[in-house]
Amino acid sequence: MRKLIIAIDGPVGSGKSTVARRVAELLGYVYLDSGAMYRGVGWKALRDHVPLDSEDRVAALARATRIDLVSSDGGFRVLVDGTDVTNQIRSAAVAQAASKVAVIAGVRTVLVAEQRRAAGSGGVVMEGRDIGTVVFPDADLKIFLDASVEVRAERRRLEYAQKGESLEFSEVLKEVRQRDRRDRERAVSPLVRADDAVLVDNTAMSAEETARLIVFLAHEREAAAKAEARQV
Ligand code: DC
Repeated sequence: MRKLIIAIDGPVGSGKSTVARRVAELLGYVYLDSGAMYRGVGWKALRDHVPLDSEDRVAALARATRIDLVSSDGGFRVLVDGTDVTNQIRSAAVAQAASKVAVIAGVRTVLVAEQRRAAGSGGVVMEGRDIGTVVFPDADLKIFLDASVEVRAERRRLEYAQKGESLEFSEVLKEVRQRDRRDRERAVSPLVRADDAVLVDNTAMSAEETARLIVFLAHEREAAAKAEARQV
């Protein structure tokens, strides 16, 4: 059976990573986190002291960078030029840097090409901000995940706490609002729901419930693709 390309987009804290990983696991698909690539570029720009508002220099840095997402133990490791930065890219500083480099058109061109290459011939769940609109406008199933800003900030706060970064809720709420604004208002590939994306508001849903709903929708699409193939 033809394997699908499933695009999951949504704002920070909407549960994309947990849900996309679980959907991939339930379907036996590959999980691809496009945000990790922006974080990889942000991490390298910080390390090399490249000013994040210097579009030309950051775009040149992106072109000269190799980013690999390598499957490992049900998750994946992120390698930037061969260096494992899986843990470092999850800090609050790198999150901010990633959202700044993500507004640069030259960076997006490089990473979108990488994302298309990584998806191969399907059987992937890719999550990000522009997967259903720019990276795979013809994806078989598009989901736009959302939740209230307070719930998203609390999820983010818990994530930081689990990694030993203890931040006040108000501080995280401010960060989430700032990143929302940057993601939604940027000129290139802003975060918007594709017209044909299914809106899933999971403010009151667990990650498992959200994942199972998406798997249900994927099975429907698979059945439709099968019926279509029979007719040809
Ligand atoms: O999903 P995340 O928090 O790991 O993403 C890090 C940053 O990268 C975030 O600020 C938005 C940006 N991003 C993007 O612009 N386009 C994507 N497809 C994925 C992430």
